[in-house]
Amino acid sequence: MPQFMENFVFCNPTTLHFGKNALSGLNNVLQQYGRKVLLVYGKGSIKKTGLYDNVMDYLKEVNAEVFEYEGIRPNPVIEEVDTAAALGRKHKVDVILAVGGGSVIDSAKFISITIPVQHPAWDFITRKAKPVKAVPLICILTLAATGTEMNPFAVMSNHDANFKDGYASPLMYPAHSFLDPQLTVTVPRNYTAYGIADLIAHCFEAWFGPGEATLSDRFIISIVQEAIKYGPPLLKDLGNYELREKIMYAATMALNGLTLQGKKSGDWAVHGIGHILSLLYDVPHGASLTIVYPAWMKYIEGKYPDRIGLLGSGIFNESLTAHESIWRIEDLFRSLECPVRLSETGIVGISKQKIFETLVINKVSGANYKLKEEDLRKIVELFL
Ligand code: NZQ
Ligand code: ZN
Repeated sequence: MPQFMENFVFCNPTTLHFGKNALSGLNNVLQQYGRKVLLVYGKGSIKKTGLYDNVMDYLKEVNAEVFEYEGIRPNPVIEEVDTAAALGRKHKVDVILAVGGGSVIDSAKFISITIPVQHPAWDFITRKAKPVKAVPLICILTLAATGTEMNPFAVMSNHDANFKDGYASPLMYPAHSFLDPQLTVTVPRNYTAYGIADLIAHCFEAWFGPGEATLSDRFIISIVQEAIKYGPPLLKDLGNYELREKIMYAATMALNGLTLQGKKSGDWAVHGIGHILSLLYDVPHGASLTIVYPAWMKYIEGKYPDRIGLLGSGIFNESLTAHESIWRIEDLFRSLECPVRLSETGIVGISKQKIFETLVINKVSGANYKLKEEDLRKIVELFL
């Protein structure tokens, strides 16, 4: 018998502009928000690819007054948010234009809620303060992976507090996101692979979340099948627009609410553990997930074989046991040239005790398959 779905309200207020030359619509949108623009970007990829010059040309056409914050790093840190927010506050910017991948857009989301207040962004994460206003955010996405372009989440690190985790506020949905797959053609092979892995992992988190929602499950299977079909060929043909297009759309749909309706939430234990690997060793986000997922599945296999078997059978379109599914998923990550053990990253000085302690400090668990300290210790052993 089918189970009841959770009640839900589905509102995704981000306007998505998708496709070749999507940026041609940028100026119409910019003009709706005012002249003073805070332009936020990363460590230089947009200058190398020429996108920076294009964006500046668009901004000139609308006679924008531009204030730039350059240098957001991958696995972004909270200090940068405060510095950029101070710049935006000083100049009373009307709108933020974020150009980059998840790290840039997540930082811009935090900047958007921090500009209107007089306290550090960290106060939001520690729940000392709640955001009440945000400067409108327009995004130009350059890397298909996180889904941040159409969701209310932002992930931030604070090394002083030994912290990396996600934060959510409906105020952090971008007002508009521009997705031209041509802009992702320059993403290097490794980050292209991590992005594909990340979108698959978002589907898995939704799959393993608490609640019954068969249509959401079907969306999940379909999105992962797109990634399985088009991901490996893309790694052999990085300049292929059609393949970039498929992956970019799949990545947005994997974490924009579509896969979660009717469920209480995703599980998110694997993301929680992966964030700690990024915090401690700067492991790229997607790689942290391909390392942790096989270990997590092996650990919960005995307790929840049905759900894992259904996932494997669905995504590979053949009848598989839980055990077979886990090995096939590990092979899939290998076919995407992603590490499936922490030792494969070549990082030196790894301490399993430190990983375990940081997981405990960050209270990493899971919404459905709740992990206790002894579970975390065993999962760490499985992915080293
Ligand atoms: O810094 P630049 O020079 O721009 O270079 C970036 C960076 O080195 C480069 N890059 C981006 N677009 C490029 C490009 N290089 C060449 N051509 C292009 N078109 O790629 C590198 C990685 O960028 P980054 O933004 O860090 O990657 P990603 O998009 O994977 O974002 C990762 C961050 O997002 C968080 C992760 O935890 C991590 O901090 N996540 C955010 C989520 C959300 N907001 O919903 C959900 C995810 O699960 C994830 O946790
Ligand atoms: Zn992710």
